[in-house]
Amino acid sequence: MAKDLAIKKTKLDEIKLKSKKYLLGNYSPYDVCFKYGVGELLFDTENKQYIDFLSGVAVMNLGHSDADILDALREQADRLFQTSNWFYSEESSNLAEALIANSFPGKVFFCNSGTEANEAAFKLARKYGFDRGIEKPVILSLKQSFHGRTLSSMMMTGQEKVRTGFGELLSGFDYVNVNNEDDLVEKFEKHQGSVSAFILEPIVGEGGIIPITQNFANLARKLTEETNSLLIFDEIQTGMGRTGRLFCCEHYGIIPDVMTLGKALASGFPIGAMIVTDEYADVLGVGTHGSTFGGNHLATFVAFETLKIIFGREILDNVNGVSEFIFNRIRMMQNKYSIIKEVRGKGLHIGVDFTIPTKNIAYECLKEGLVVNSTAETVIRLMPPLNISIERVDEALNIFDKVIERFNK
Ligand SMILES: Cc1ncc(COP(=O)(O)O)c(C=O)c1O
Repeated sequence: MAKDLAIKKTKLDEIKLKSKKYLLGNYSPYDVCFKYGVGELLFDTENKQYIDFLSGVAVMNLGHSDADILDALREQADRLFQTSNWFYSEESSNLAEALIANSFPGKVFFCNSGTEANEAAFKLARKYGFDRGIEKPVILSLKQSFHGRTLSSMMMTGQEKVRTGFGELLSGFDYVNVNNEDDLVEKFEKHQGSVSAFILEPIVGEGGIIPITQNFANLARKLTEETNSLLIFDEIQTGMGRTGRLFCCEHYGIIPDVMTLGKALASGFPIGAMIVTDEYADVLGVGTHGSTFGGNHLATFVAFETLKIIFGREILDNVNGVSEFIFNRIRMMQNKYSIIKEVRGKGLHIGVDFTIPTKNIAYECLKEGLVVNSTAETVIRLMPPLNISIERVDEALNIFDKVIERFNK
């Protein structure tokens, strides 16, 4: 009898209980668990449908369960997952060739995540500094930046909250205000003769979707050239077509010395990469760096397929068409709702800045079947898959509009 009266637990309740019991509490997930995805749609444990405007945080650029990606995964999984970097790999050499052909002349290092790509860039920058005879090399980055959670990435991350609570773990970092040219000049002067690199996200992502200005980018290139220091572009979030070009640096007409990639590179299969121009490709020589899984056959084969799809299906054209549609719709909403302050970004890397905190806006959207992300307190980040249709975007923006109306009191 008591059993009959007990409130029936849903599947989500069960998953929540187990997660809280066994998973470290370093995340605070929403009350949803997705079971499967098809294209730009996600379905939860109750089979409720959502439109995905988060893409696994700019990872699922081709949507969920893309047939060609699944075929590539199966094909390579049947053949070979992993041998090691003690042997040559046709798959990693093919991917490196394709990345170089579509970026700039140089060489590639493969790893497994964004932070590892930045870790590699950090080691390269520090070694380059010491090789040049700098006693205490300094790496500059942006105050609003996010570069990852491992030790060096965390130190390059300008957002203090990411670095707080761990003491002074590494020295040799300083931070520049985004798009503040005077501050940039000042920091180069302050560390005259010691700057080994300046790392930046061309569109500051977690920091609120703030595109760097052309002048700031030009100045960064000029100052790094003049001081023989490295310009590192973190394209972990902006890369692989997200901004309407394969890499965001193309918008600026700037070739960085080092570029880091991750997230969408293999359409959801974990991988990271660092591309280094020929000039600096020898800094990390034999034995200076490595990774067991880095460049494994499976990840690199799927990443190669991803590149083929981006060009084969003219994904970048879709990004630019859909982007224009979204910007127009949001600007129209801006005329209706005074709580929308600004819309920023490039391609399908879009931030809507509000006059109020956006955590609850994101939660209300989720309840209405639209997955978006709240970042930098007041920004809603819109990052749908790059192959999404205008019709679906229209549907998603209708939900967004309806939710904003509720908050615009
Ligand atoms: C710009 C940027 N760099 C680095 C990272 C870290 O990547 P990962 O979480 O794969 O380590 C992120 C993750 O959000 C990012 O947005």
